[in-house]
Amino acid sequence: MSRRMSLATLGCSAIADNRALPAVGLVPDIALAAVASRSPEKAARFAEKYGTKAMTYDEVLEDPTIEAVYLSLPTGLHHEWTARALRAGKHVLCEKPLTTCIDQARELTGLAVERGLVLRENFTFLHHPQHTSVRSLLADGRFGAVRTFTASFGIPPLPASDIRYNAELGGGALLDLGVYPIRAAQFLLGDNLTVVGAVLRTDEATGLDLAGHVLLVSDNDVFADLEFGFQHAYRSRYAMWGSAATLTLDRAFTPPPQRQPLLRIDEQDHAEEIVLPAAHQFRSSFASFAEAVLQGWRQSEEQPWLRGAEETARLIDRIRREAVQVPVRGQVPVR
Ligand SMILES: NC(=O)c1ccc[n+]([C@@H]2O[C@H](COP(=O)([O-])OP(=O)(O)OC[C@H]3O[C@@H](n4cnc5c(N)ncnc54)[C@H](OP(=O)(O)O)[C@@H]3O)[C@@H](O)[C@H]2O)c1
Repeated sequence: MSRRMSLATLGCSAIADNRALPAVGLVPDIALAAVASRSPEKAARFAEKYGTKAMTYDEVLEDPTIEAVYLSLPTGLHHEWTARALRAGKHVLCEKPLTTCIDQARELTGLAVERGLVLRENFTFLHHPQHTSVRSLLADGRFGAVRTFTASFGIPPLPASDIRYNAELGGGALLDLGVYPIRAAQFLLGDNLTVVGAVLRTDEATGLDLAGHVLLVSDNDVFADLEFGFQHAYRSRYAMWGSAATLTLDRAFTPPPQRQPLLRIDEQDHAEEIVLPAAHQFRSSFASFAEAVLQGWRQSEEQPWLRGAEETARLIDRIRREAVQVPVRGQVPVR
């Protein structure tokens, strides 16, 4: 049997339990060596459920047989624990977003390059081939000259205790949801996006952003109009509006693995629907990470991932600096 990557998870989080660990079980290249929690009871529960060992975070980092970690801590802790894991010689798949600002992102990407370790940010949607299909149509000129890209990611309010309402833990709608439309704009329109406007609905008491709109422009003059928030009916979609046609894609960021995506193209006298094969983006993200670790670090393959993470962090910083704040009261669920 070929060698498998030995992986441990840091944090027995909701996303680890609901998506990541079930997906890990579908990747033959990965051996789940341990699950780690701050709570020994929680670690033991997860260990039993996923058939592996229970550890603390530090035990994982000190264990020389563990070569990679999946980190799903609150966003505000990603920088500290990713840095510790890289310094301990582990490859890291970190939940999105990698960090809360560009300086921290650069420090981590620098560490990964210096040590020749794989560092990926777990934007699983980037592993779904539906976006590659859109990019091919775009490159083929199917929409004519593209004028506007619009993308939305919004969800209903969360329970009051959710980490997303805690600014100190890296909460807020921009870091949790806004990063998806931003990363999609990077993927489809290229890097070198400029922030030309932003507005954030911000809780007066805590300064936490609950929703936002961002306007970017690409270096070939396409406008990107992005909206996000956790005060909304569920929406996860984007559209590309060109001189010849409009493309729309629903469930763009979170398609269930069994869903066959539908690309709809509307022209003046014609509408076309393209049904694509279903894909499991969480499994593909882990499979791609394991493949990169097992084949050995290659700068040419890792550089686009590192650059993408830095670019998202740069845009987040810029948006925060430029955004008009709309202060609101009483819109954060009370604990
Ligand atoms: N890729 C995706 O589709 C996706 C989807 C959802 C979330 N995410 C990302 O995944 C990360 C976790 O999100 P989640 O919804 O899974 O959060 P969650 O359920 O609250 O889990 C966070 C985990 O972090 C650990 N932790 C360590 N220090 C903590 C502290 N001071 N306060 C709270 N928890 C602490 C806890 O694990 P222990 O108690 O076991 O130590 C906790 O279970 C976030 O960065 C989020 O953006 C990604």
